[in-house]
Amino acid sequence: MQDHRLALSPGFMIDNFRLERVLGRGGFGITYAAVDQMLGRRVAIKELLPDTIATRLDGRTVEAQSSSLQENWEWAKERFLEEARALATFTHPAIVGIQRLIEANGTVYIVMDYIEGESLEQYFQRTGPAKSQLEVMGWLAPILSGLEKIHAANLLHRDIKPDNILLRSDGRPILIDFGSARSTIGATMTMTSIVTHGYSPIEQYQTKGRMGPWSDIYALGAVVCRSITGEKPPVAADRIVEDDFRWLSHRGLVGFSKDFLNSVDWALRVKTQERPQEIAQFKESLFRTLRIQKNASRFQNANAANQGSIKNEKNHRQYANTEMDSSSSGCLLNTITSFAIVIIILIILSFFK
Ligand SMILES: Nc1ncnc2c1ncn2[C@@H]1O[C@H](COP(=O)(O)OP(=O)(O)O)[C@@H](O)[C@H]1O
Ligand SMILES: [Mg+2]
Repeated sequence: MQDHRLALSPGFMIDNFRLERVLGRGGFGITYAAVDQMLGRRVAIKELLPDTIATRLDGRTVEAQSSSLQENWEWAKERFLEEARALATFTHPAIVGIQRLIEANGTVYIVMDYIEGESLEQYFQRTGPAKSQLEVMGWLAPILSGLEKIHAANLLHRDIKPDNILLRSDGRPILIDFGSARSTIGATMTMTSIVTHGYSPIEQYQTKGRMGPWSDIYALGAVVCRSITGEKPPVAADRIVEDDFRWLSHRGLVGFSKDFLNSVDWALRVKTQERPQEIAQFKESLFRTLRIQKNASRFQNANAANQGSIKNEKNHRQYANTEMDSSSSGCLLNTITSFAIVIIILIILSFFK
């Protein structure tokens, strides 16, 4: 904790949570690992402390840096609480669970489920570029489904990047670090605090940028690009001047269908209106290629008795399949139709008795 000048010390109590250590310090706040003293379980706590508006004065209380920023600080806390409350209503396996909101020490704390595992960034560094699109879909499909829910509530994440996606040990991905603070406090921040080069879309660099679901879609496309090539795309603000991004579909990448790469390229178009406008569109485009692949692999499975499985993709595939299997409702329809036909035949036979 000593490295983090403004951080609270280990052992500090916030309500019944005992702080253990700092997990991270961003421009908007400090994240701690803590223990719920009542339940004895670990949590993650994010303390709102935007470094351009507020500071900690007495080793405890967070205050506006000057009286002229007082109003700004109050407003930021209100908006932060408002968005955190909205987030807390979600229960989705790919969205970090919020346990409590606490107002204390002049600021606001979000108590979250503690995610045991590694970040997608650490995973990429450990495993190198993804070898197949099913491997990518393993983390991408649940994230798309979570984002769809977020967008339906008129919220945006605003900072999707491999550091903000945690992977549980069983492979399940979880989105953390929602942009509640970014939307409100952003205007007072330097550009580098509100963008992540390579992942942030062009509109995040612009003062009047049109932000929407397409903005998260761009960032997600950039994460996929990082996953399969090992590199994130060039900075969007440079791409708008001269675009030297080599489209993924032109790179001859092995293990990925042309359609899949085209879908990711679509997400990575610089201009907002040229990207998929909603997650549903992006998902449809990505899953179309997977359904084709899945049908092909069903055919192969029927023919090859001892087909070897790719073990390290097992977990990922399992989660990708939960998304892909929306088409399995067709099976239910088939079953009902067959059942109806049997009943009709039985009725007809009873007439001939
Ligand atoms: N719920 C969580 N469970 C476990 N670790 C977390 C959790 N939330 C955040 N962290 C860790 O703390 C770091 C910083 O948190 P984050 O919310 O991303 O804030 P910021 O990036 O603004 O500092 C993350 O990169 C992650 O390593
Ligand atoms: Mg973060």
